[in-house]
Amino acid sequence: MSKNKVNIAVFISGRGSNLKALIINSKKKKFNFKVALVISNNKDAKGLRHAKNNKIPSLIFENFDSKLIVNKIFKILKKKRVMLICLAGFMKILNPYFLNRFKKKIINIHPSLLPKFKGLNTHQRVLKAKEKYTGCSVHFVSKKVDDGKIILKKKLKIKKKDTIKTLERKVLKLEHEAYSKAIEKVISNF
Ligand code: GAR
Repeated sequence: MSKNKVNIAVFISGRGSNLKALIINSKKKKFNFKVALVISNNKDAKGLRHAKNNKIPSLIFENFDSKLIVNKIFKILKKKRVMLICLAGFMKILNPYFLNRFKKKIINIHPSLLPKFKGLNTHQRVLKAKEKYTGCSVHFVSKKVDDGKIILKKKLKIKKKDTIKTLERKVLKLEHEAYSKAIEKVISNF
């Protein structure tokens, strides 16, 4: 079934709920991608269990800055025929050497309506700024953090009673839908 699907690698650092959603969606007929590899910079990332439970190979690399390691990663990606890298809660900045080796084939999800609220503590800042809407964005990764061409955004209206917690839950739910759609959009141009 997955024979003709496009192989993707998912990079995580923690919980991995986006990874889980991607694995679930990848098994649906309407999605044309397959999670072929999971890479984490954190050996204790909870999300690694989703790879294990689904028999997806996973690797830990703590240092992405050495060219030697980057070259090693790219050898593995090539072997696995990975066409797209999807950062999903991957809290490490990839250096220009890494980005150049996989040009225009690295995407990221961020819990805000970019270009607004790049960086950390998004929901807290959104509430403080009394925004009417929030949401998530999937974008190509560039040298700047949470920057790069937008692929897709999904938004929701903020209610008066919303808190950091409720926004996190609601936006995460949107992320789980948005990421697979964005991947489809990207791979349809391959
Ligand atoms: C997600 O909300 C993702 O958008 C965010 O980290 C969370 C990871 O959750 N990423 C960023 O903030 C990137 N700047 P997950 O590990 O459950 O997928």
